[in-house]
Amino acid sequence: MPRSSSSVTLGSGINLGNALDALDGHEHALQLRRRYFDEIKAAGFDTVRLPVAWSAHAEQTAPYAIGQDFFQRVDRAVDEALARDLNVVLNMHHYHELNHTPDEQTERFLALWRQIATRYAAHPDLLHFELLNEPRAAMTAQRWNTLLPHALAAVRESNPERTVLIGAAEMNDIHALAKLELPDDDHLVATVHYYAPFEFTHQGASWVEGAASWLGTTWGGEADRKAVDDDLGVAAAWADAHGVPLFIGEFGAYEQADMDSRARWTACVREKAELLGIGWAYWEFGTDFSAYARETDTWREPLRQALIPTM
Ligand code: BGC
Repeated sequence: MPRSSSSVTLGSGINLGNALDALDGHEHALQLRRRYFDEIKAAGFDTVRLPVAWSAHAEQTAPYAIGQDFFQRVDRAVDEALARDLNVVLNMHHYHELNHTPDEQTERFLALWRQIATRYAAHPDLLHFELLNEPRAAMTAQRWNTLLPHALAAVRESNPERTVLIGAAEMNDIHALAKLELPDDDHLVATVHYYAPFEFTHQGASWVEGAASWLGTTWGGEADRKAVDDDLGVAAAWADAHGVPLFIGEFGAYEQADMDSRARWTACVREKAELLGIGWAYWEFGTDFSAYARETDTWREPLRQALIPTM
C-alpha cells in the first residue's frame, strides 16, 4: 500500500526558491507574500523549504555577523509558515556560488550556523535546519564528511534535538549517498536532489552550458520511467540500510520544457518517492520552474495536480 505523504518525514513540500536565496541582480526574484503561504497550505502541502543565502548577508570577517534586517526577513518567512502549521526546512544556500568553498572558511561557516541556530533555538519542532545546499566541486565527499560533523556540532550547542538535514556531496546526487558519512545522531534526515535526466529538466536553462541544444527534449516513455524507479530505488535502499529518513529536497523541470512532459515527470517522481516512503519538495514555487504563476496568482494546474492530486 502506498503510504500517505503526510505520514512520511516532511511529506509533500515546495521550495520558496529565488526569494531569500536570490543573489544580487536576479531578474525574477520572488517577493514573499502572505498569500503564497495561504496558497501553499490550501493546496495541501506539508512543508516549505526555504533556501537562504546567508553568506551574502553576513560580514566577511569575525564575528561574521548576519545583518539584522536580513535576519528579520527570514524570521517573517519562517513565522508565516509555522503559523500555518507547515514544516520549514531552513537551509544554507549558495555558499559556493559566492566563490568560497565552506571548508575554506570553516570559522565563518560555523559562525553563521551558530547565529542561525541560536536565533531559532526556541522555535517549534516544525522548523528543520539543512546544513548546506549542494556541496560541490572542491567540496568533495571526503571534504564534506570532514566539515559536516563540525557544522552539526555548532547547531547542537543550542539545538540538541532539532531535526537536521544533511545532503550528499556532488550537488546532493543520489549516487553520492554511498560516500556520505552521517554522524551518530538520532535527529538526522538525509537529503538528495533529483533532476534526471538533466537534458530534460534543464533544457534551455541559461546557467547550464549547452542547455539550449536540449530544447524540445520530451519525457514519458517506459525507459524514462524505469530510470526514475532505479534511481529512487538506490536512494531508498541506502536510507533503509542506514536507518535514516530521506527527503528529496529539490526536484523539478524548467519552464522551457513542454508542460505535458513536466507534469508526467513530476507526477512520476512524486509517486515513486511516496511509494518508497521518501518525503519531497518541488523546485520551486513561483519563478522559473514554478508550479504557481505569479502573474495570474493561480497554480499551474498540471503541476499542482502532479504534486497534490485531487479528484
Ligand atoms: C539553485 C537554483 C536552480 C535550481 C535548479 C537550485 O539549487 O539554487 O538557482 O534553478 O537548483 O538548477
